[in-house]
Amino acid sequence: MQGVDGHERVFDWLDTEAEKRAKAGLTRKLRPRAAASDELDLAGNDYLGLARDKRVAGAAAAAALRWGAGSTGSRLVTGSTELHTELEHELARFCGFQAALVFSSGFTANLGAVTTLSGGESAIVTDKYIHASLIEGCRLARTDVAAVAHADPDAVKHALSTRRKDRALVVTDSVFSVDGDLAPLNQLSQVCREHNAALLVDDAHGLGVLGEGGRGALNAAGLAGEPDIVATVTLSKSLGAQGGAVLGPRRVIKHLVETARSFIFDTGLAPAAAAAALAALGVLKSEPDLPQKVLNNSTRLADHLRGNGFRVSEPQAAVVSVQAPTPEDAVEWAARCAEQGVRVGCFRPPSVPDGISRLRLTARADLTDGDIDTAVKVISECAPPSATS
Ligand SMILES: Cc1ncc(COP(=O)(O)O)c(C=O)c1O
Repeated sequence: MQGVDGHERVFDWLDTEAEKRAKAGLTRKLRPRAAASDELDLAGNDYLGLARDKRVAGAAAAAALRWGAGSTGSRLVTGSTELHTELEHELARFCGFQAALVFSSGFTANLGAVTTLSGGESAIVTDKYIHASLIEGCRLARTDVAAVAHADPDAVKHALSTRRKDRALVVTDSVFSVDGDLAPLNQLSQVCREHNAALLVDDAHGLGVLGEGGRGALNAAGLAGEPDIVATVTLSKSLGAQGGAVLGPRRVIKHLVETARSFIFDTGLAPAAAAAALAALGVLKSEPDLPQKVLNNSTRLADHLRGNGFRVSEPQAAVVSVQAPTPEDAVEWAARCAEQGVRVGCFRPPSVPDGISRLRLTARADLTDGDIDTAVKVISECAPPSATS
C-alpha cells in the first residue's frame, strides 16, 4: 500500500505490541533517581560502593577537566588517550592476562570478542543462560550456535564433539546475572582443551568480587592468562565506572584492535570513565578485603530471606535472587519495597532464561548488618502471599 495520507499511522503497530506486553505484565518504565536519596539500594551493580567514592569520582572529574568530556573519536583515530593505555596495562596486570583492550561498554566488548573470535569458520557453543550481550554477539557472528544446558560441561562436550566446523569458541558467563551462580570454569576449560576449542568467559560479575583481592573468577579458577582463554569484563559494576574490556593473549588483543567492529566504529570510552576505573583498581589493590565483604553480605541476605520462607538462589558473588510467583507480582513487590525505601531489581521475561520472574538483589560491600536486616524486613512484609514456599 502507498499513499501520503496515513503516515501518522505508520507506528500504530507499536501500540498493539505495547498492549500485548502490558497484558503479559511486561511493561517497563524508567524510574530516574535523585542525586541525593536515603533509599537503601539493593538494585544497582556498584558492588564495592565505589561509584561515589571520592577517590574514584574525583579522578573522573579531574580527567574530564584535563582531557575533555568526551574522547573525541574512535579509539583508532583520536579516542585513545594515555589514560586508556594505562587502564589497559593495569587491568591486564591486575587480572593476570598478557593484554587488555578497553571498549565503551561491557556490551560492546562482548560483541567484539564473540564476533572476532568466531565467525563463519568457527562453531559457537554457549551456556543457554549467557548474558544478552553475548547472545547478540553470537547472532552477529553468523555461524552455527549451540546453546546448551546451563552449567553443564557434558552438554558442552557433546556439542563440541558433534560440531561441523573445525574451530570452536565456547562462551559462558563466570557468574550468571540472574541467580548469581558460578559456571564450572575448570571443567569447561578441560572440555575445551580436549576438543581444541577456545574459551571466552564474561567476568562482569566476578571482577572485584571473586579471586585473590577481586582479581576475578578466572584468577579464582587458576585460569587467568592461559593461552586459550579470553575474558571480558565491565567497568560499570565493581569498579563503579563505565565501559568494558577484553583481556587475553596479546595476539587476541591485536586481532580485536584490527577487526572488532564494535571497537573500530565506536567512539572511545570517555576519559572520565577510564580515570574512574583506574582509580577504582587502585582502591581495590589498597583494600583487598572489600570483595570478601560483598560475599559475606550476599550470604547473610540470602540466608535471612530463605529463613523467612522465600525461594532464594545460592549466591556465589554479589547477586541474590528471590523467585516471584508471576511477572506482575514481581513488579508490584519491587514497587512496594521502593515505597518502603528499599530499591530492589525486578527480572522478568525476557531477562530470565527459565521464564521465572524474580526480585534481583545485589549485596554491596558497604551494606551494614542493619541495612540487611531492614531490607529483609521490608522485602518480607511487601511479599505477595504465594512467594513463600
Ligand atoms: C554478565 C554481563 N555481561 C555484560 C554486561 C554489559 O556490561 P555493560 O553494562 O558495561 O555494557 C552486563 C551488565 O549489564 C552483564 O551483567
